[in-house]
Amino acid sequence: MKNIDRRQWLKKAGLSSGFVFLGGLDAMALDFSSRPIIDNKLVQLNSNENPYGPSKRVRDIITNTFDNACRYPFRALPSLVEMIAEKEGVTKDHVVVTGGSTEGLTAAGLIYGLDGGEIIAADPTFQVMLRYAETFGAYIHRVPVNNEMALDLDAMGKRITSKTRLIFICNPNNPTGTILEKNKLKDFCTSFDDQAVIFSDEAYYDFITEPDYPSMVELVKEGHNIIVSKTFSKVFGLAGLRVGYLIARPDIATRLKAGVMANTNILAIEDAKEALKDDDFYKFSIAKNKEAKDHIYDTLDDLELKYIKSHSNFVFFKTGRHIDEMIGLMKKENILIGRPFPPMYDWARISTGTMEEMELFGQALKKIMA
Ligand SMILES: Cc1ncc(COP(=O)(O)O)c(C=O)c1O
Repeated sequence: MKNIDRRQWLKKAGLSSGFVFLGGLDAMALDFSSRPIIDNKLVQLNSNENPYGPSKRVRDIITNTFDNACRYPFRALPSLVEMIAEKEGVTKDHVVVTGGSTEGLTAAGLIYGLDGGEIIAADPTFQVMLRYAETFGAYIHRVPVNNEMALDLDAMGKRITSKTRLIFICNPNNPTGTILEKNKLKDFCTSFDDQAVIFSDEAYYDFITEPDYPSMVELVKEGHNIIVSKTFSKVFGLAGLRVGYLIARPDIATRLKAGVMANTNILAIEDAKEALKDDDFYKFSIAKNKEAKDHIYDTLDDLELKYIKSHSNFVFFKTGRHIDEMIGLMKKENILIGRPFPPMYDWARISTGTMEEMELFGQALKKIMA
């Protein structure tokens, strides 16, 4: 039964009334939940997506924008740029809209990595920029995370050479879910941005619960040599539509624009605009993510498995078994979990899902680890 049919059936049977009386999150979950997990049998907890997106408001915009899909997106883009500039407190010249933040990462990797440019990054971290830059001749300094699985900024700073063009900081880091101490990160950026551009990947920034945690956009505004990437794929739930953006000083933004190849599309642009206005869904996503993450922690605590407290929508935990084996065993239970993150082969990354999906994950993991 498709979820939408299930919802209608629940309504007809009067079974949804309990949820409605509960109000709040559960009632909203009925509106937003769209994953037909019963149909396709696979619980997808491997790509850090938001299972509740797109919101109802955004879905309506998708439908209404269909007639415009015969038009090129350039006329629709400026108003999105304006909205992003306003949200981030920068000028329109600071904004580069991209096909997912992946395109922003690859554009920067290409521009700064060409001709043997060196890039410093943590290990493990999100690889998209690094692999792309390597293809075009960049040299990547991979600096192991510390014992707390956090980025080792001191060690990263020591790897700077005269050829270093960019330092990649993924914060919160994928796959570890850790964040840097706020002042340490700002100090690092201001200490080293005269030697290399610092790229702050803030794909999971919205999930950080620490109060007043700064985005490095603050330093961009002060004119620092810093690029920040953000995305509509995570908290806004638009991963399949491909829209993200970079914020950088206008001279850097102009360089980056030259590296953008695919751009985004008209549906994604209109949806991103609506997503920025849909405050209810934004808050709902954050609350549901916390609920799911707490459930993952409970499961891991029950199993006495070590894990890292996460500031994102996934949890990195130690299984003690090779990740290839874990992926296979979980797949047999119809659960997809994250890929290998060398050299941590006995760790696994699990994304948050709906509570129904979290239950299934918990049952499967308990069966496998028994
Ligand atoms: C740290 C990080 N940055 C960027 C991305 C790319 O996301 P997107 O291209 O959907 O914006 C991801 C995707 O999972 C990610 O984990």
